[in-house]
Parts: sequence; C-alpha cells; structure tokens
Amino acid sequence: MNTISQTQAIKEILDGNIVALPTETVYGIFGLANSSKAVSKVYQIKNRPADNPLICHFYSYEQILEHTINQPEYLAILMNEFCPGPITFLLELNPKSELKHATVGQTKVCCRIPDNEFTLQILKEINIPLFGPSANSSTKVSGTNPEIIFEDLGNRLAGIVDGGSCNIGLESTIIDCTNEHEIKILRPGAIGKKEIEEALLFHLQLDSVSQPIHDRISKLLVTEDQKTETTTPGTKYRHYSPRTRIIKIERLPQCHPNFDSESSKIENISYGRHPQLDWGSPTTENKNSNKIYILAFDEDLLRISSDYHKLSLGSIKNPNEIAHNLFQNLFDIDKLNQEQIYFWFGAAAKVMFESNNSVEKAIVNRLNKVFENI
Ligand code: TXA
Ligand code: MG
Repeated sequence: MNTISQTQAIKEILDGNIVALPTETVYGIFGLANSSKAVSKVYQIKNRPADNPLICHFYSYEQILEHTINQPEYLAILMNEFCPGPITFLLELNPKSELKHATVGQTKVCCRIPDNEFTLQILKEINIPLFGPSANSSTKVSGTNPEIIFEDLGNRLAGIVDGGSCNIGLESTIIDCTNEHEIKILRPGAIGKKEIEEALLFHLQLDSVSQPIHDRISKLLVTEDQKTETTTPGTKYRHYSPRTRIIKIERLPQCHPNFDSESSKIENISYGRHPQLDWGSPTTENKNSNKIYILAFDEDLLRISSDYHKLSLGSIKNPNEIAHNLFQNLFDIDKLNQEQIYFWFGAAAKVMFESNNSVEKAIVNRLNKVFENI
C-alpha cells in the first residue's frame, strides 16, 4: 500500500495531486480547493457527477470567515462548541474566493474543520482550503480505513496518510447556515438537533449574552426535515450499492435457499459484517453451504437458531460501535459471493429505527439510503 508521510502529502497536494487523509468521520481525498486542475482530477478519480460540489476543509474559524459572507450570528456559537469536529456548515461563498472551482458554480460552500491532528496540521501548513469528498468511488461506501480505500481507489491516488480507522465512521452532519432564523440539518450525523439545541441553550445562559442576542437565539429553529436533503446535490445520487441483494424481512425465512422471499419481503436493504462475527470463508465453505445468511443486530441474532449463518451489526446498546463498523460491513458484503442475504428487522432493529438518538438516526439514514437506491 502506498502510505505516505505528512510531509510527502503536503508536497503532493501542492503539486496539484490528490491524497487520502484521515478525519474523525471518514477518510477524504484531498487537494487544492482553489485549483481547477486538482478539482477536475478528483471528479475523475471518484467518477463523481460534475454538478455535485465539493466540501471544503479549513483549519480555523478565521480561515472560513475569509472565504464566506453573510455568516449568521449563531455560527460563532456552533463553531466554538463543535469545531474541530464532525459538523459541516453550508455558508454563502465570498464571490472573491477562489473556492468557486470546488463549488462548481454554486454560490454556497460546505465548510468543515476536521478533528484529526495529521490533517489539521497539513491544512495549516498549506494554508489554502482543501476539498475533501469522502474517499470512495461514486456509489461505493465512504472509506473508513486505509485498506478499504486502497482496494477501491488505490492506484488512482498519489498516496494515503495512514491514520488508522476513523473514530466515528459516518460522514459529518451538514447544516445549512444561510438563514439567520433557521438551522436546517441537511445530512444527519453524530451531532444532531439535540446537541445543536443544547449548545445554543448553554450559550443563552452565559452572563455575557446581551438581551437582543438572547431574544434572537432563543427564537432560532433547528429543523431536520429529511425532504430538505434533496436540495443537497449529493443526496440525489446513488449511494452504497453492493452487488449482493439484501432483503429486509420481518419473518425469518425457512432454512433452505429456495425460500420464497417475496412473501416476507418488506423492502430491500444492503448490508455487511461485524468484525467479531464468523463470516466463514466466502470462497469455500460458504459457497457450498445451503445455509441462509441472516444479518441483524446482536440482540436479534440471539433469537435465531444456528441453522443460519449469522452476520452481526453489533449490539444496539452500543450505537457508536455500530457506526464505527458500518461502512466496513457494507464494503465486505460482496466478498461472501451471495446473490442475496436477509436483514432481519427484529425487535432490536425496530428499537434502533425508532430511536431519537443522533448517532442512531444517522445509522438509520445511511441504511435507508442503501435500501432506496437498490
Ligand atoms: O465527514 C465528511 O463530511 C467527509 C470528510 C472527508 O470530511 N466528507 C464527505 O464528503 O462526506 P462528501 O463529498 O462525500 O459529502 C459532502 C456532501 C455531498 O453530498 C455534497 O453534495 C454536499 O456535501 N455539498 C458539498 N458542497 C455543497 C454545496 N456547496 N451545496 C450543497 N451541498 C454541498
Ligand atoms: Mg460521500
């Protein structure tokens, strides 16, 4: 694997090349956001639709202010609370900014300060914002460790800075900050409505806050209408589409492969593995076995007999771990060489799908995308 040092990464980026860098959410593939050449390279590498703008990364609030205009009053509060961190702010682009190459003509720009010491240091030394879409080719899952990225994009990149596997494992929350009166969550992530509202509330309790600011901030709306997602260009494209069909079922299939899935089918959903579970060898044992693959949360798997191959997503008691492993799971599913497997929407899954916790909502959002796009 062509892992490179921070110094080499800086050199490659300044030469106009594209490198994979770690962040706390997922890896991104980074390059100079003010360079039309680097921008066109990254579209080619990802095979990304040309009208899908690139998220830009910064090392400080001040650097974001230089490239944007009409920032809302609440921006400083949220940046102070969450940055560096897994949140992206959609702001109005400064017409003088050269980031227009990365936004492909959009007048707004997605801005993020990632919480990773390697990447922050690189951003600081280069002192030019870097675009950094998730490290995956179009329709593949976002890379959360160097192995996935190497398999998906390997020789198309100038190198990968190895920062191990990403802590969070899901892409950042994106919030639309172009309205003074409303914060719209465009893409759910580890920071949700609850955390944003708490941060605002905490700020209101500070003695230093004047009455007019207090009045305005307390009227601020935080909305998470999923329909707004269609206004974010990236969300209209296919996501996460393994070759393997994954069928979401409420009733377990009989233990033979000719089971009539139509009668139990709820919807299609795509899926993967948990590292601690035994997936067997996809090339030998599993190929010859008649056992059906059932993918589920641990609490549901406990209720399934050993007549099935069990694939775990982790325990619903630990959503952070589910998130951490999710994209590796999705990536690995095709290695089982199965035409289709089943996701059991059991009691534990129902709890997860109805949860109000931000990380759980983000997990369900990614799963539903898989389903919607098959
Ligand atoms: O956690 C993350 O956000 C990762 C890490 C590497 O920072 N990056 C990431 O990038 O997930 P990407 O390109 O996979 O997702 C960014 C999303 C896309 O759906 C894109 O359409 C949207 O942000 N986006 C970027 N710029 C935008 C803009 N100017 N207006 C509206 N949507 C924008
Ligand atoms: Mg992406």
